[in-house]
Amino acid sequence: MDVVIRKSTEDAVNFAARLLADAIKCKPDIVLGLATGRTMENLYGRLVTMHKNDKLDFSLARSFNLDEYVGLPAEHPGSYRFYMSRYLHNHVNIDKRNTFLPNGMAEDLAAECCAYEKRIKSVGGIDLQLLGIGRSGHIGFNEPLSALTSRTRPVVLTATTIAENSTLFDNPADMPRRAITMGVGTIMDCRRLILLATGESKAEIIAKAVEGPVSSRVTASVVQLHQNCTVICDEAAASQLEEREYCQWVFDNDPMWDPYR
Ligand code: GLP
Repeated sequence: MDVVIRKSTEDAVNFAARLLADAIKCKPDIVLGLATGRTMENLYGRLVTMHKNDKLDFSLARSFNLDEYVGLPAEHPGSYRFYMSRYLHNHVNIDKRNTFLPNGMAEDLAAECCAYEKRIKSVGGIDLQLLGIGRSGHIGFNEPLSALTSRTRPVVLTATTIAENSTLFDNPADMPRRAITMGVGTIMDCRRLILLATGESKAEIIAKAVEGPVSSRVTASVVQLHQNCTVICDEAAASQLEEREYCQWVFDNDPMWDPYR
C-alpha cells in the first residue's frame, strides 16, 4: 500500500485526478470503478476540466459504480445515477451505454446483484477502482461486519451512514435505509485501488483503515491486503497516521513517484 499525503485538499484531489487521467491515457478502453460522495465531487470536477482543456478522452472507457440506493429511481436527485450524470457522465464524452450502476429499483434484488457481478466479469474485470471512505469505515456501502469476501449484494445501512448521507437529500427522510453495494471481495478483485480521503473528519477512520488491524469492523482496512493500492490524503485526513513522516519519506524517495513530485 502506498500512502500519499498532499498539503491541501486541492492538491490531494489533483493528484488523484492525475493518476486517473494517466491510467485512462495508458488504456483508453479502461474499465473504471467509480465512487460517489462529497469527496468525489471535486475530483470529477477536475476530470471534467481535463476533458475540456486537455482533451482527456473517455470515448472508449467503461464505468461501474460501487453502489446505489434501493428504491430511488434514476431521476431522483438523491440517486447515485443522478449524481454521476450531474458530476461526470453529462460533461465528458463517455458513452452512457457503457456506464453501469446497480439497479436499486429491480424487483429481484438478488438477481440484479448476480447480474452486476456477471457484467463486471464479462468486460474482464475492473482496472482501476476509486474509493472514498465513510465515517463507519465503509468502502462502497460495506458497513461494519461485512464479510471481507462478500460480493455485490443488498445491504442495510448503519445509523452513522444514514446520518452522514441524509444531509445530501433535500428531504433527509427520503434517504433509503438500504442499498446495493459491490462486495469487499468484488473490490479486492479490481486490479488497482485508489482511495481518496480529505478533511479532518476522516482522520480517525483513515488511521484505523491504514494502520489498524484488518477487520470487518472497518471494511476499508482490507485495502492493506491489496497488492496495488494507493491511499491519497490531504494533511488533515492524514493527521492521525503514526507513520505519516515515513509515508512522506517514501514519496520523496521512490522513483515511481518521480513524474508526480
Ligand atoms: C457514500 C458512498 C461511499 C463513499 C462515502 C464517502 O457513503 N457509498 O462509497 O465513500 O459516501 O462520502 P463523502 O465523500 O461524502 O464523505
